Amino acid sequence: MKTSLATEMAPPFALVAHFFIAAILFLCFSAVALFFMEPDLAGYFISFPLAAFSHLYLLGFVMMVIFGAMYQLLPVVLEVPLFSKDFAYVQFYMYIVGLCMMVSGFSFPAYHLLIPYGALITYLSITIFCVNVFLTFYRLEKSTIVSKFLLMGTIFLFASISFGFIIGLNLGHGLIEIDHDAWIKAHILGTLGGFVMMVIMGVAMVLIPMFALSHHYDERAIQAALYCNTIGVSLGIIAFIASLPVVILYSALFLVLCANVLFIIQMSIVFRARVRKQNDYWVKNIVFALISLVASFVFIGMAQFSHDTTYVFIAAIFFFFGFLLAFIVGHLYKILPFLIWYKKFSPLVGKTKVPLLHQMIHTQTANLQAFVLFFSVVLFSISCWSHSAALFTLSASLFLVSILLVAFNVTYSFLYHSKEL
Ligand code: HEM
Repeated sequence: MKTSLATEMAPPFALVAHFFIAAILFLCFSAVALFFMEPDLAGYFISFPLAAFSHLYLLGFVMMVIFGAMYQLLPVVLEVPLFSKDFAYVQFYMYIVGLCMMVSGFSFPAYHLLIPYGALITYLSITIFCVNVFLTFYRLEKSTIVSKFLLMGTIFLFASISFGFIIGLNLGHGLIEIDHDAWIKAHILGTLGGFVMMVIMGVAMVLIPMFALSHHYDERAIQAALYCNTIGVSLGIIAFIASLPVVILYSALFLVLCANVLFIIQMSIVFRARVRKQNDYWVKNIVFALISLVASFVFIGMAQFSHDTTYVFIAAIFFFFGFLLAFIVGHLYKILPFLIWYKKFSPLVGKTKVPLLHQMIHTQTANLQAFVLFFSVVLFSISCWSHSAALFTLSASLFLVSILLVAFNVTYSFLYHSKEL
């Protein structure tokens, strides 16, 4: 497994910085948007207000970070340069325009007609990303477990945004007759289970051993996870779209569950083999993220048995904010200082005093931020379960504080310069 975040194959830092800065801005917008979400957490889990928030947060923050991280890591992991940096810039600007149109369309009834046009631009921009990744893979000579995860994830992304695009077109113009509910579920499974989880599983196998200093561990669990998730997500998508018997759908979802359990087992194997025993904000975030992933599956199970949609919302809170956010923020605190250091300070090594990586993150703020996030996630779930608007507003306020602390630390890292040495 590779043990570096940057090589001469990596793209310029400015490219990756575009994605990371935009991601933090969209994260702040999402935290503000949460204040208006409480009335929408009582009904069915598919609706325009929820689609507006999901896309703002998932495409604006989660996918934006993933795009930036993939552009940085693909050349390092695959040991081939990115097919085109220009494609990546074009993708970035189109994506911002398309996403803003789509989210406005979902948010305001007067702008619903923006949905298909926003969907088209977002679709084209993500397609550019997929083509860039596929053409980069075309140059690959030897595949690894990580490259398989990234390739399969990108194939799922392309398939599931195609469903999203068709649903979006249909919402505007009613072109073809489809079962919207089933197609949206296929779209959610493909984007979250197929792309986001596949990329996280693959990238975790590079980053977690690197930061924990783990060596010589068994990789069979993650290999099994790759096959379980690929088969489970593919079968699940087909079962939704072709209305296959429910037993096939449940088998598919069971495979997806197995893949996630195997991923957690693999992570605990890697953690047990770690040389670096320090429990810093990175470890705290990763542990909370993995506990939240387990919690989200438990609540999805409870929703299935009780047919109570409250549990779907609680599962979503744990998955979106407990798992995805803690996992991403924990890694941002490691990756960002490294990339900034590499760009700004590595040419100065041997000429002047340069900072250590951990100095480029404000430790107390990062610890406080993690604690406030964990607390707000638990409080959010209680507010959902008790249907308490006051508790929801309190959770949203704490969440906003935590996000502002993330923004503070990201800015701190970007602005770190020699006068602090
Ligand atoms: C070209 C890109 C995309 C397009 C055009 C698109 C379009 C759509 C549309 C039209 C819906 C149905 C909204 C409704 O009728 O209520 C939807 C739902 C959803 N999409 Fe996407 N989508 C895209 C990408 C993504 C990605 C990448 C993710 C996840 C990472 C995602 C996650 C979701 C979720 C979670 C829902 C359900 C929202 C709810 O609870 O109502 N989408 N999408």
